[in-house]
Amino acid sequence: MKYVIGIDLGTSGVKVLLVDGEGTVLQSARAEYSPDFYDGGCVEQDPAVWWEGTLRALDRLFEENPGAAADTEAIAVSGQMHSSVFLDGSGEVIRPALLWNDTRTGRQVKEIYELAGGREKLLDMTCNIALEGFTLPKILWLKENEPENFARLDKVIMPKDYINYRLTGKVATDMSDAAGTLLFDVKKGEWAYELCSKTGIPTHILPKVLPSVGTVGKVSEDICERLGLNGDCVVICGGADNSCAAVGNGVLKPGQGVVSIGTSGTVIGFVDRIESEVDGGVHLFNYSVPDSYYAMGCMLCAGEALNLFKGTFLEDISFDEINRLGAEAPAGSGGLIFLPYIFGERSPHNDPNARGMFFGINGNTDKGCYIRSIMEGVGFAVRDLYEEVTRFTELKEVYITGGGAKSELWGQIISDILNIPLKVLNISEGPSYGAALIALAGSGIAESLESARGSHIKTVREFTPTENTVIYNRYYELFRRLYKSNKDNFAYLQNIL
Ligand code: XUL
Repeated sequence: MKYVIGIDLGTSGVKVLLVDGEGTVLQSARAEYSPDFYDGGCVEQDPAVWWEGTLRALDRLFEENPGAAADTEAIAVSGQMHSSVFLDGSGEVIRPALLWNDTRTGRQVKEIYELAGGREKLLDMTCNIALEGFTLPKILWLKENEPENFARLDKVIMPKDYINYRLTGKVATDMSDAAGTLLFDVKKGEWAYELCSKTGIPTHILPKVLPSVGTVGKVSEDICERLGLNGDCVVICGGADNSCAAVGNGVLKPGQGVVSIGTSGTVIGFVDRIESEVDGGVHLFNYSVPDSYYAMGCMLCAGEALNLFKGTFLEDISFDEINRLGAEAPAGSGGLIFLPYIFGERSPHNDPNARGMFFGINGNTDKGCYIRSIMEGVGFAVRDLYEEVTRFTELKEVYITGGGAKSELWGQIISDILNIPLKVLNISEGPSYGAALIALAGSGIAESLESARGSHIKTVREFTPTENTVIYNRYYELFRRLYKSNKDNFAYLQNIL
């Protein structure tokens, strides 16, 4: 039997997935860890924590599947994006990584716009706007705040690249993670040399870039021995977690996309050519499917909005009961509109000051209306992302995944608000399954990512739009007006807090 391992290296833990040569998921194992939070929006993690976690999870997986290690032919990792691993010339980690959700780099973001020659020019060079979480601002922060560490800097890689490095001794990244650094010319598929020179980034610190399905190398002898792997096991480059998640969720060719309602939310669409005007409303990154891109809208608070509401007001009732109450409220929640910007918002507003709000409370607003309006508000924000993503690609087949897709009511509301059918697959492994497919295709066990996906992967549920679409179209207009008319109020609030 041939096996591959797909690894999802997250922020709060690592998951490893054992998949056979037919694309069937056999088992998974997890190891938990947590990031270190400091004042001033600093979030860090020691890369050694990822490596130890990965070894712990793999040990568990192989203990429960004796013989699987020796028959594992390939490994690929999907990892949290943007987080900066700084290596010195001897391959040692210089300092803990600054994570994707670290916001200390506001000043560097401003500098990037100035040095690049403005927003338009930056978009021209990279297809993306600058965000605090991206890697380039982190490198500039290191240069300005820890010059002695910057002087030692030999390579900057991303979290999954660090695992690949520990497995093989080789330093490389893939295009989907390179794109998330903001130092990559997404259209050309190479480092953005003009931006490097404008921002004073020495190009020798940038690693070699492979496609996600490219081979990094064989697992080194000592690691093979440590894990019981055979000496021919290869590491396939893998990719950014959002890219791998989309692959794992069935986005494999033009026309396909996925809506994900987890703690946060995303809308991702396969883009084969970037033809529309790039204006920074969504991220445009190179995709794990060779020679393609994906457009991704990211909302910072989706499922978490309902969790927070439940935690504060409905602690004693179950999610089944919450769904039942929400289903009893009318479409439009009797005029109650919820803005889900509890943690600020990324796409399309890129506004850290924005906050959540309920609008339109009246004498008939009951528990069910509050619940439903949260689901609808998240749905309207999903529509904002969907509108932006579909400027770059026409979507004909859209999947829905994440905790929100498990609620019949929420899935239906989102289908109604988007006015499109939404399919649910019988697999919910997301990024780790995407990584496993990349391992299968990259190692040649499967001919392509599409054929790597087992024939047992099927649509098990489809939400189709109902007549509520008409009502939601009217409310969507108001939802959009509410953000615009409160933008200044949100900023004012941050000033007086
Ligand atoms: C994407 C992003 C996050 C991280 C989380 O731009 O910042 O989704 O990839 O792992």
